[in-house]
Amino acid sequence: MLATELQVDSPLDVYRPRPARVIDVERLTPLENRFRLEWPDGRSLGHAPGQFVQVSMLGVGECPISICSSPTRSEYFELTVRRVGAVTSAIHQIEKGDLIGIRGPLGRGFDIERFVGRDIVIVAGGCALAPARSLIQYIMDERPRFGEFHLLYGARSPEELLFRDEIVTWERDESVSCHVTVDRAAGSWKGNVGVVTTLFGRLPKFDKPNTRAVVIGPPVMFKFVVMELLARGIPQKQIYCSLERRMKCGIGKCGHCQVNHLYACQDGPVFNLAELTNVREAIE
Ligand SMILES: Cc1cc2nc3c(=O)[nH]c(=O)nc-3n(C[C@H](O)[C@H](O)[C@H](O)COP(=O)(O)OP(=O)(O)OC[C@H]3O[C@@H](n4cnc5c(N)ncnc54)[C@H](O)[C@@H]3O)c2cc1C
Ligand code: FES
Repeated sequence: MLATELQVDSPLDVYRPRPARVIDVERLTPLENRFRLEWPDGRSLGHAPGQFVQVSMLGVGECPISICSSPTRSEYFELTVRRVGAVTSAIHQIEKGDLIGIRGPLGRGFDIERFVGRDIVIVAGGCALAPARSLIQYIMDERPRFGEFHLLYGARSPEELLFRDEIVTWERDESVSCHVTVDRAAGSWKGNVGVVTTLFGRLPKFDKPNTRAVVIGPPVMFKFVVMELLARGIPQKQIYCSLERRMKCGIGKCGHCQVNHLYACQDGPVFNLAELTNVREAIE
């Protein structure tokens, strides 16, 4: 088939970036910007919380970025990008109205049906609030479908907290117990100081069989949060995480993201913790 004959919904589309329009840019922190995008034809992205896209910057390269908005807000999709190198710096040059290349949605996200009717605990650390936010927004938008909802978020300093306006909304909303901490207080910070596990004391006793936990953050945080959840009686098969690995193709072809027999890009990035037991180096 000639390239010009490719249909929009062709399976080959996973290889081909499509232009998406940037309709809003917000500076969240000195390093992170949030970008709101839409397809020019008005279609929705059709993603699940936890999935990612490959963002393509012509002449620079591609990089995987989690979709940080919920599919319940289907008229747009959002990405939060931390500036760390060439591609992410190029993304930070983008302005409202620009077009950028997007492949996706890619990977396995959260299987929402497994969360419906359950009590949910989400623990996020640092910039991982971005991938967690898609699920958080989903639960908030569909609140009656879920049981108790607890959200714990930790960052190194108040300056590094993402989505501060939304956090205030979640803290005021009685349908979610939202607790935030920073490792080091600064400025006018009056909240909790300490690592994210110090917030567990604020949660009620879990209804163990009915609780599903999601942990997204740096490996060191992940390890201690999982220990805390297991100690509180939440079994591995009820704990979910998102693995970040270096990726190239994003579709299970190149092997860059391989962890033993798993491809983080295709089998994940969302995994059930029980799936990663005995998978060496899955969790450092
Ligand atoms: C599934 C997935 C979802 C992601 N979601 C987001 C997101 O929502 N927002 C965001 O800002 N970033 C996200 N990332 C990370 C992002 O893809 C990298 O920061 C980006 O590829 C860096 O590209 P660069 O050219 O700017 O920097 P490079 O020059 O390629 O790298 C700069 C520095 O970042 C490190 N780095 C690059 N990629 C990774 C990685 N995957 N894991 C750990 N360290 C890395 C490098 O070792 C180097 O030190 C995600 C990665 C994956 C795999
Ligand atoms: S990034 Fe190519 S196989 Fe996963």
